[in-house]
Amino acid sequence: MSSNPSASPISKRLEGKVALITGGASGIGECTARLFVQHGSKVLIADVQDDLGRALCQEYGSEEIISYVHCNVTVDSDVQNAVDTAVSRYGKLDIMFNNAGISGNTKSSILNSDNEDFMRVLNINVCGGFLGAKHAARVMIPAKKGCILFTASVASVLYGELAHAYTASKNAIVGLAKNLSVDLGQHGIRVNSISPTAVATPMLTDALRMTKEAAEKFVASAANLKEAVLEPEDVAQAALYLASDDSKYVSGVNLVIDGGYNLTNPSLAMAMKSLFSKV
Ligand SMILES: NC(=O)c1ccc[n+]([C@@H]2O[C@H](COP(=O)([O-])OP(=O)(O)OC[C@H]3O[C@@H](n4cnc5c(N)ncnc54)[C@H](O)[C@@H]3O)[C@@H](O)[C@H]2O)c1
Repeated sequence: MSSNPSASPISKRLEGKVALITGGASGIGECTARLFVQHGSKVLIADVQDDLGRALCQEYGSEEIISYVHCNVTVDSDVQNAVDTAVSRYGKLDIMFNNAGISGNTKSSILNSDNEDFMRVLNINVCGGFLGAKHAARVMIPAKKGCILFTASVASVLYGELAHAYTASKNAIVGLAKNLSVDLGQHGIRVNSISPTAVATPMLTDALRMTKEAAEKFVASAANLKEAVLEPEDVAQAALYLASDDSKYVSGVNLVIDGGYNLTNPSLAMAMKSLFSKV
């Protein structure tokens, strides 16, 4: 995808819509913000990385297209303000993308798991999404339409590879999204989640302490689907589909973007390899 702000797609799939993207200053959120703008949406980025968020908006040169609001998703009044800012600045809110998240400590054993880290991950990844959905619903219900999206993770369908806190948080998000799809379906609001496997954003490269290229190579070596690398653009394209009217009857779905990774279990193949290498 071109990062040229002036490049526009042949057909704009979000023309006239207004989107609020949490965690929009970096990684998947940033990429989605750019794609949504290309498709005609007004975008309000909500994040805690003020310099990054403002710099991204300045590239476009006009608050009419994309703007930034400081918002810690764990603070109710911040989230309330972000939703109200979207409405006061752009007139309404069509798309709420609850994307902000952290990985937390990557230690996997329960005995190594730190209590404070567990609470922090659940607070940002789950409570942050809950507040985003609650305040978005407040303005979407009277409009009788809207789309709420969450970034979950492949950790919502695959177990034993990632830390307990992160896995618990992403399963909670998928449960929340499905429950909300029933509650808010009564009001014409669709709710879905997106579950990517590893993407070389700052979250992953910081955790692996690798460059983007090295992280992509590492992830590709373990991937099920070869000859392709999962990039933030691929997740943004999924968000575009779920946010647009192309998915007007899709609700309660957890869209897994992992090239079939969660379907694989290499344990038996590895045990056989090791057995026959000893013979
Ligand atoms: N990168 C991956 O491999 C991967 C895979 C699956 C799911 N995800 C999920 O994707 C989402 C986006 O992550 P990313 O990979 O783009 O990482 P990233 O670190 O590039 O972006 C995350 C953004 O969230 C923001 N954020 C963190 N805490 C916040 C808070 N309290 N309030 C507001 N903003 C906050 C950060 O400032 C950052 O801009 C996360 O929910 C993450 O769990 C990432």
